[in-house]
Amino acid sequence: MIQTATAENATAQRLFEKLKGVAVGTSGPYTWERCVELAPLVDEINRLKHEKNAVILTHYYVHPEITVGVGDFVGDSYKLAKDAKSTNASIIVFAAVKFMAETAKCLNPDKEVLVPSKQNGCSLADAITAERVRELRREFPEHTFVCYINTSAAVKAVCDVCVTSSNVYDIVQRIPSDKIYFLPDKLMGENVQDEMKRRGVQKDVQIFSATCYVHQQYDPERVLRLRGKYPGLKVLSHPECSPDVIRHADHVASTKGMMQYLRDTDAEAYLLLTECGLAGRAQVEMPGKTFIGPCVECRYMKSNAMQDILRVLRAPDEDDRIVLSDDVREGALRCINAMFHYAEMSG
Ligand code: 13P
Ligand code: SF4
Repeated sequence: MIQTATAENATAQRLFEKLKGVAVGTSGPYTWERCVELAPLVDEINRLKHEKNAVILTHYYVHPEITVGVGDFVGDSYKLAKDAKSTNASIIVFAAVKFMAETAKCLNPDKEVLVPSKQNGCSLADAITAERVRELRREFPEHTFVCYINTSAAVKAVCDVCVTSSNVYDIVQRIPSDKIYFLPDKLMGENVQDEMKRRGVQKDVQIFSATCYVHQQYDPERVLRLRGKYPGLKVLSHPECSPDVIRHADHVASTKGMMQYLRDTDAEAYLLLTECGLAGRAQVEMPGKTFIGPCVECRYMKSNAMQDILRVLRAPDEDDRIVLSDDVREGALRCINAMFHYAEMSG
């Protein structure tokens, strides 16, 4: 009993050390009392991970207590797909959104992949079905179908190549076809069209009509207002933002790319035009830096809670498990492997 109390205290201290300066959206501010409250959950999850040979993959957008307390890996969707590919664990708990967990399952058919999030959607992934893609393929028979990773495995299974925000421009450029159909993100698709022009690449890029409800909320007026208020501000944007917003950014990158830019630069303040969990993670890793601006949260990413991670590790329900038919898994894997092939090509 005394030993447990001491261990919990050490965990609370470890959490508080990392989280004490963090206060974004519904995450934080983290008080000492909150860290003491989280400590037994964190200890039990870490014990169960060890006992069951499980790993926890976490996206930057989830609550920082999860990435700091129990996450084994944190990253953007490309890094997490690679982490899922290389793990030796028997169980993968994916604290993010369902399409990322499905990708992990495609790469690990024999492992148990569990999702603790209560709201499993994504406004991009939910906007298109495999049936709709089949119709589009009949309409655009000569086009190579490129899908953003923010799609279901069923949609990937009927596309040719998958991309993430970290490799979309290079992959579209490298695909040996001058006719591309990009889905489902309209704004990212428009950014692809602009970037191909900028690179002098001649391709007909057709695009679907969905948007991310988080990233579409940013507008150029707000960026200009904040630039006026904070001289020396560096503006970082995710490629899911509109081209009008991206034109005002100092740097455009995936969440992992934005983190790297923050580490590599020294500015008076930063504005991160993405889901505000990234600012939380940046505060954890770079407590000396200043992050300003609006905090838009993704309800899907934020539906991951520590209690649910514990629950799925202890006794998962059927709904917590990723199950894919062989057809869908094999089709989606072909599309995901095509991404690894083009992403790892040099030049
Ligand atoms: P990243 O791959 O850049 O982390 O993006 C994932 C995502 O869902 C952005 O909204
Ligand atoms: Fe989907 Fe947007 Fe949430 Fe990313 S931020 S998971 S694209 S809804």
